[in-house]
Amino acid sequence: MKITVVGTGYVGLVSGVCFSDFGHEVICVDKSAEKIEQLSKGQVPIYEPGLEDVLARNAAAGRLKFSTDLVSAVDGADAVFIAVGTPTRRGDGHADLRYVMAAAEEIGRALTGYTVVVTKSTVPVGTNRKVAEVIRAAVPGARFDIAANPEFLREGAAIEDFMKPDRVVVGVESEKAKAVMAAIYRPLYLRDFPIVYTGLETAEMIKYAANAFLATKISFINEIAALCERAGADVKGVAKGIGLDGRIGSKFLHAGPGYGGSCFPKDTSALARIGQEYGVPQRITETVIAVNDAVRRRMVDKILDLCEGKVAGRKIAVLGVTFKPETDDMREAPSLTIVPALIGARAKVHVVDPHGRREGEALLPGVVWEEDAYTAAQDAEAVVILTEWNQFRALDLKRLAGSMAVPRMADLRNIYDRETVLAAGFTAWDGVGRG
Ligand code: UDX
Repeated sequence: MKITVVGTGYVGLVSGVCFSDFGHEVICVDKSAEKIEQLSKGQVPIYEPGLEDVLARNAAAGRLKFSTDLVSAVDGADAVFIAVGTPTRRGDGHADLRYVMAAAEEIGRALTGYTVVVTKSTVPVGTNRKVAEVIRAAVPGARFDIAANPEFLREGAAIEDFMKPDRVVVGVESEKAKAVMAAIYRPLYLRDFPIVYTGLETAEMIKYAANAFLATKISFINEIAALCERAGADVKGVAKGIGLDGRIGSKFLHAGPGYGGSCFPKDTSALARIGQEYGVPQRITETVIAVNDAVRRRMVDKILDLCEGKVAGRKIAVLGVTFKPETDDMREAPSLTIVPALIGARAKVHVVDPHGRREGEALLPGVVWEEDAYTAAQDAEAVVILTEWNQFRALDLKRLAGSMAVPRMADLRNIYDRETVLAAGFTAWDGVGRG
């Protein structure tokens, strides 16, 4: 198959690279000449484990190309994927479809023969039909079909999620488009990964419902965690005890500082807006969002309580600022509310993150960046674990405690246990939901 991917952001790049690894001929298009030049040299602008290697081997095999020229790239393509951004629109929480519609129109004008135009970007219900209208309006008589093909990639594990998905969702309305999509995903079908074919609106809804449901699990366990602290229960035990029930499932029940990233906050907020628009308020999702906001404030209180209210002028070490490990992504990271709150309380905040500094420097003014956890914690009065990078899971706790002015730990990802931390010489420890 000949595939064109428009937009080389996170989703577009991972999809294009992986499609070429299936053996398809892929051109990734972006308006940014700088980005395309970088990618053509094999340089990946984001940190995603494995991506650079898969890109290199397919580029070397001549199956993967990068270009700024959308018109030539669309010429003769079997399928064109729209993978441009859908940020939350300022003010009203809606997904901003400006880039999707602009891409659709441009693609429409460039179509030569029959092509399936596929939306990969997460878009509100009804958008795929609008994409078709935009193309038809731009080029009456254009030969194309639309397909909705939402992605379910986790950052940090995107290649694996693409190559070994729980399922692939394809919304189509014609047998012809279905055949093209089936040919594209044939390597996964042959390996027994389920491909779910639906209508357009159902595919669009699946994406929002999946992310809102996962976000619900997180907000749910975070509320249970707060209750565990008061009631003397341990949320880790609770999560295990409920998760073994197959109907509940053990994943996404880790209590912590709330969900962040590029998907959950954006998609829950968009779903809430869609619900309001249709006059069917999504009350559970609305509450999930409110709970997630409250969790962050609760984390700040936890740190202040751990420090007995005295943080002004005191050094606090924060380990991890990205929204989760194995990514350099800072979007909606809990650190973006927690760190400024500490600085607002006049704490001297020293931070360390294996990949967060490049983006984080501009986003977290007033902090001191350190190279490792031990220098960050030197003379500090508390160490706060905010992102569960592996290197923070295996700290020499005795060494850490020994170098601190007051050895206290707020373990907001529950990667340690009270006994272990106190045995290493810490005088105070607090986790999330560990009553
Ligand atoms: C998510 C979805 O998993 C993916 O399917 C979708 O397409 C995009 O959004 P991602 O945002 O990369 O992927 O990260 P994920 O690993 O799902 O974590 C999201 C957030 O939830 C993170 O902030 C993480 O720390 C938090 N989380 C996750 C918890 O707080 N507890 C959990 O048990 C799981």
